[in-house]
Amino acid sequence: MNAPTPASNVLTGAPLPPNVTVVDHPMIQHKLTLMRRSRTPANEFRLLLREISMLLAYEVTRDMPTELIEIETPLATMQAPVVAGKKLCLVSVLRAGGGILEGMLEILPAARVGHVGLYRDPVSLAAVEYYLKLPRDISSRTAIVLDPMLATGNSAVAAVSEIKAAGCQSIKFVCLLAAPEGVQAMYEAHPDVPIFAAAVDSHLNDHGYIVPGIGDAGDRIFGTK
Ligand code: URA
Repeated sequence: MNAPTPASNVLTGAPLPPNVTVVDHPMIQHKLTLMRRSRTPANEFRLLLREISMLLAYEVTRDMPTELIEIETPLATMQAPVVAGKKLCLVSVLRAGGGILEGMLEILPAARVGHVGLYRDPVSLAAVEYYLKLPRDISSRTAIVLDPMLATGNSAVAAVSEIKAAGCQSIKFVCLLAAPEGVQAMYEAHPDVPIFAAAVDSHLNDHGYIVPGIGDAGDRIFGTK
């Protein structure tokens, strides 16, 4: 995969905060286009999200350190690299984060998994927490927070604040789609947290939905509505 593109809004060309990486790869963009179509059924939508998540897992772990260990191949002894450094914890923001979690775990099967339950108050759009479960050793891990939609940023900011409050200081955020408003809110609250997105769309509508977007990620993943 080529190196990710510098941060700019793919739809408007506007510059984005420096902590944003748009993983602008042809396969990701192709699959995202299929997901955007309103006629794509839930089973295809879930599969596409799983596939894109595997590709995003590749990018979000690009800077993981490695160390050499000695191994025996059938022909020789060699020093070969294995990943080193902090262990990972994938933190799924309920409920739509589960759609990304599946694909991430395919690539990162040894990661621990945490959950943050947040819902958006439909009037104020504020994030309301109803569940939090993180591994006890979260302070010694790198947390990768998963939520397909970085819309207002309220949920993402709240989730990252909870994870920091639990002692974790190494945090990344992965989403499928972001709105400029969401990445700005995250940058203002948590400039130390890198954001990886498949695309940054145009804007939020009055109901806090990303436009053009994919609609309600949870409904599309789970076939509810
Ligand atoms: N959450 C969604 O599921 N979709 C949006 O567009 C914004 C937030």
